[in-house]
Amino acid sequence: MRLLVTGGAGFIGSNFIRFYLREHPEDSIINLDKLTYAGNLENLKDIEGDARYQFIHGDIADFNVVDFLLKDGVDAVINFAAESHVDRSINDPSPFLRTNIAGTQILLESSRRNKIPRFIQVSTDEVYGSLEPIGLFTERSALRPNSPYAASKASADLLVRSYFKTYNLPAIITRCSNNYGPYQFPEKLIPLFVTNALSDEPVTIYGDGLNIRDWLYVDDHCRAIDTVLKKGKAGEIYNIGGNTEKTNLEITDIILNILNKPQSLKKFVKDRQGHDRRYAIDSTKIKMELGWEPKYKFEEAIQKTIQWYIDNREWWERIKSGEYRLSNEQRVQSNE
Ligand code: NAD
Ligand code: TYD
Repeated sequence: MRLLVTGGAGFIGSNFIRFYLREHPEDSIINLDKLTYAGNLENLKDIEGDARYQFIHGDIADFNVVDFLLKDGVDAVINFAAESHVDRSINDPSPFLRTNIAGTQILLESSRRNKIPRFIQVSTDEVYGSLEPIGLFTERSALRPNSPYAASKASADLLVRSYFKTYNLPAIITRCSNNYGPYQFPEKLIPLFVTNALSDEPVTIYGDGLNIRDWLYVDDHCRAIDTVLKKGKAGEIYNIGGNTEKTNLEITDIILNILNKPQSLKKFVKDRQGHDRRYAIDSTKIKMELGWEPKYKFEEAIQKTIQWYIDNREWWERIKSGEYRLSNEQRVQSNE
């Protein structure tokens, strides 16, 4: 298979490319990425020279670039590209609408014209809004997005649905819970708190810290997407979750304990606007119909993840200091 992966220089996309090429030695991947602040070619340094991998610097909202790549013959599009951070969407929703909605529509339109046989939209459980205090999100739960980020992802999901219903584009939506693992941009809860704690800087807990997320190790998400790519049914939605609900305070304590850092690093700050209280996913459908289930236990995978940030201090220090931007720009120029 020849895949077009978008947003492959980000956290989940780069883990997916590495995972996929390892699992499928015969296949190849084109990675289309705009290299926003969150895109980092250093995430893919180890596979840069792999003949099965090609990087294209470009925007999913640019029809000409997308159409040029899809005309060339691609077996599947997997759309990871997105503005992905809720706090940034609260500060300025515009880039979220452009990339997450308009960009997805352009990918869909070009996929339709070029008769692409598989389209996977990597969506999120955040489209369902907040669950309080009990229950689980199923694929039939209503869409009730609360942040501009979640609203933009829900809008994209509706466009994907419309392309399936109207044009028979063989598209599938996956909705996953919060991921953690290596190469996650240190603005998200786990990498931010781990790297702050490693630098003896405060960890900023929003509100009372009792908001709940359902955590999944990134490799389990990658395997779920691969499973959906191979076995999923066009027009369907598949929820993907870790069955690991934790409050933000529990996550904070786990990180501080593993790193042997003091409780005094905890700093309670003003709550996020519109902060969703709880996410929890029912993954019965993907388990029963496609045979996927998570392989990693949270206790082991969080240790492994924290160890990765300890071992790769240079990676996150270059991001936090802003140094990596410059080196990315140089790499991009040498790629063009
Ligand atoms: P990320 O922010 O780490 O990476 C996003 C990538 O997309 C970056 O490489 C960026 O450069 C690229 N990008 C942004 N705009 C682009 C554009 N217009 N054209 C081309 N590339 C562009 O995000 P992530 O955490 O890896 O998330 C990937 C996908 O998974 C997103 O669609 C997100 O909504 C979804 N998701 C994430 C999580 C999570 O916990 N991180 C959970 C469920 C779903
Ligand atoms: P985040 O990693 O931004 O993911 P999402 O909002 O998409 O779930 O945040 C996870 C949880 O951690 C969420 O409840 C907000 C909270 N949080 C903090 O308490 N402090 C922080 O500095 C950040 C970034 C997040």
